[in-house]
Amino acid sequence: MEDPTTLRRLYGRRTGHKLREGQAGLVERMLPELAVPETGPIDAAMLFGDDRPMQVEIGFGKGEHLAGQAAMRPDHGFIGCEPFLDGVVGALMKIDADGIENVRLHMGDALDVLERLPDASLERVYLLHPDPWPKARHAKRRFMNAGPVDRIARKLKPGGEFRFGTDHPVYVRWAMMIMGESPDFEWLIDGPQDFLVRPDDWPETRYEQKARSKGHEVWYFRYRRR
Ligand SMILES: C[S@@+](CC[C@H](N)C(=O)[O-])C[C@H]1O[C@@H](n2cnc3c(N)ncnc32)[C@H](O)[C@@H]1O
Repeated sequence: MEDPTTLRRLYGRRTGHKLREGQAGLVERMLPELAVPETGPIDAAMLFGDDRPMQVEIGFGKGEHLAGQAAMRPDHGFIGCEPFLDGVVGALMKIDADGIENVRLHMGDALDVLERLPDASLERVYLLHPDPWPKARHAKRRFMNAGPVDRIARKLKPGGEFRFGTDHPVYVRWAMMIMGESPDFEWLIDGPQDFLVRPDDWPETRYEQKARSKGHEVWYFRYRRR
């Protein structure tokens, strides 16, 4: 059962600086084809024309990880969610440059897209370096909360994977508590290397790079949907 008290709204800014001409052109040319429809149910057949396995990335930033994963798995369909226009432009540039054909984009709240997908339909969900909202009084704004985690669980197939990464010491403790309370997930861990070392099939994100350049440790979590 989803916990409605912790299903969050989208917080933070949605637009940044004005787009350069080339970027605006890219958005006009590519987004209409790649955008997830604004309303109504969605599934693989509607987005990709077949029943391929699907994966969702929540808050893809500039899209490094999304494009990297999509290139590694051309037979899977990827939905990237990011409300920030600069981020969408970043992802479009990578999709264009690398000739990636298996990504669709939602410029908005990932919770909306998740809700519109069929239950038990996703192979993987990624939440990488979510906004930390470090103050205790903002804890309900963190994406990692019981409501969103319940929704992620409902949308994953049994055996599907939820990947979460952060360098934030407050968030990591919070996330371990929230995930520890979820009956739906098993933490895939044999030893410390499993959360201290980035798996080979986990492309580095911009935030991760920044975190490392500041000397932060980064933690990687993989959870299997029971
Ligand atoms: C700290 S950034 C990390 C970006 C990227 N994952 C990375 O590691 O480089 C967090 C991102 O999550 C996005 N975000 C926040 N809430 C979101 C939501 N409800 N749905 C989708 N994206 C969201 C923000 O716009 C922001 O780009």
